[in-house]
Amino acid sequence: MDPRLSVLVAAILIGLVSAASGNVVFEVQNKFRVDGRSSSLSAMRSYDARRHGRLLSAINLQLGGNGDPSETGLYFARISIGTPPKDYYVQVDTGSDILWVNCAGCSKCPVKSDLGIELTLYNVEESSTGVMVKCDQGFCTSTYNGPLPNCKPDLLCQYSVVYGDGSSTSGYFVNDTVHLDRVTGNLQSSTSNRSIVFGCGSRQSGELGSSSAALDGILGFGQANSSVLSQLASSGKVKKIFAHCLDGKKGGGIFAIGDIVQPKVKTTPLVPNQPHYNVVMKAVEVGGDVLQLPTDVFDTGYQKGTIIDSGTTLAYLPQEVYDPMLKKILAKQPQIKLHTVEEQFTCFKYLESVDDGFPEVTFHFEGSLTMKVYPHEYLFQISDEAWCFGWQSSGLQSKDGKDMTLLGDLVLSDKLVLYDLENQAIGWTEYNCSSTIKVIDDSTGAVYSVGAHNIGSTSTLIIGRIQTFLLLLISMMHALL
Ligand SMILES: *[C@@H]1O[C@H](CO)[C@@H](O)[C@H](O)[C@H]1NC(C)=O
Ligand SMILES: *[C@@H]1O[C@H](CO)[C@@H](O)[C@H](O)[C@H]1NC(C)=O
Ligand SMILES: *[C@@H]1O[C@H](CO)[C@@H](O)[C@H](O)[C@H]1NC(C)=O
Ligand SMILES: *[C@@H]1O[C@H](CO)[C@@H](O)[C@H](O)[C@H]1NC(C)=O
Repeated sequence: MDPRLSVLVAAILIGLVSAASGNVVFEVQNKFRVDGRSSSLSAMRSYDARRHGRLLSAINLQLGGNGDPSETGLYFARISIGTPPKDYYVQVDTGSDILWVNCAGCSKCPVKSDLGIELTLYNVEESSTGVMVKCDQGFCTSTYNGPLPNCKPDLLCQYSVVYGDGSSTSGYFVNDTVHLDRVTGNLQSSTSNRSIVFGCGSRQSGELGSSSAALDGILGFGQANSSVLSQLASSGKVKKIFAHCLDGKKGGGIFAIGDIVQPKVKTTPLVPNQPHYNVVMKAVEVGGDVLQLPTDVFDTGYQKGTIIDSGTTLAYLPQEVYDPMLKKILAKQPQIKLHTVEEQFTCFKYLESVDDGFPEVTFHFEGSLTMKVYPHEYLFQISDEAWCFGWQSSGLQSKDGKDMTLLGDLVLSDKLVLYDLENQAIGWTEYNCSSTIKVIDDSTGAVYSVGAHNIGSTSTLIIGRIQTFLLLLISMMHALL
């Protein structure tokens, strides 16, 4: 293995959670207790707004898109960057670690999208708050776990990310103001800003360069210090907790950062030191019967185990799981004739209700957390009478023979999925994603509802958008000064 690569892999692996923040937050709460005004939530709220205009206790992201492979196949959020601010539409991806957007001067960036959104190129020179990050600056050296070779003061800090579907993005890091919706009341938010380091994409390849599913970029919600979440948490603005509720029926849904207090979810521990959100699967049940599987099939070695990834449309299972699972699912429907569509999907004709004709699949995880997937969720309809399986055999996908279990939007939709990095746990519960969840503003103790959004769109399939490598580029660009 290239030693430079292993340094990088190590940098990604040491995604340890920083100490919980929020001292400022508790001081404010205590002050009110002492003053005896704790009964007035609105007083606290306005106090908080005056005193800590930039304190981000809970953040709400507006979502669009959907997880239906025959429609959009991805979820995205709108974020606002720069001075004056401009809107960007970015895929929400728990499988990667940085935020990047397509930049002006990009040699291979999409210019048009079929998702019904207008694409915008970020231009650091048009933003009065935007600056390029140099290779000798703290963000760069800590992201790459040490000083960069050949770094000179005027050289930029480059990045390159390769995703699981083989697509890639590269460019350089910039530091600019990002405007976020801070939750300030029930179904209310106000804009709050913070400087964030993100990637300015100058070259995209694979799916990322094509126009059908094009977005402005990807918002990585991974655990590494380079993620937006880690940057917000490191300055004490938020707790390292977030949740998504992806609406599988209508599209869009809820995305919130902060202390989510309702619904309560049962959790399973995250496998430590993994580049993604990995959990331990124990068993698979189909229609009440537990599949007999080899004991090491859900092994959690490097890049093994079960990855929870909102940036992937479907669900990928090792061949040893996929084969017996499909056999069991089809056991009660011996008359069905399977055919392959687009060389990838296993499909069949069916005219009745799939929920009546097929069994539920239940995954069992460490800590007795379960995930039930209904037939209408794991099957998607491609015509009036044809359905296809969303389950994929990962053996077919991986080029290097890796058989991982990857659970994407297919099974994550219509659930509130909570990532509690403070406690290194992840959990979920079936939920109505067009309703509301509740977050607590740690600075005041006030509990607010956060609602669903659907910022509209129309179609495509994203496969394995998990980050495989964040590459360290030795040849750095000269600053465009
Ligand atoms: C990430 O940040 C934390 C806290 O700021 C720090 O302790 C840790 O060393 C950083 N990790 C890496 C890999 O740089
Ligand atoms: C980004 O820029 C802001 C404002 O100039 C500065 O305070 C902050 O430290 C910078 N962040 C990093 C990580 O360099
Ligand atoms: C960021 O927020 C502060 C405080 O609310 C405000 O004074 C400042 O103008 C904002 N900066 C930008 C770039 O919007
Ligand atoms: C989900 O919540 C929305 C908004 O509260 C409500 O209109 C809808 O009926 C709910 N759906 C179900 C299936 O309960």
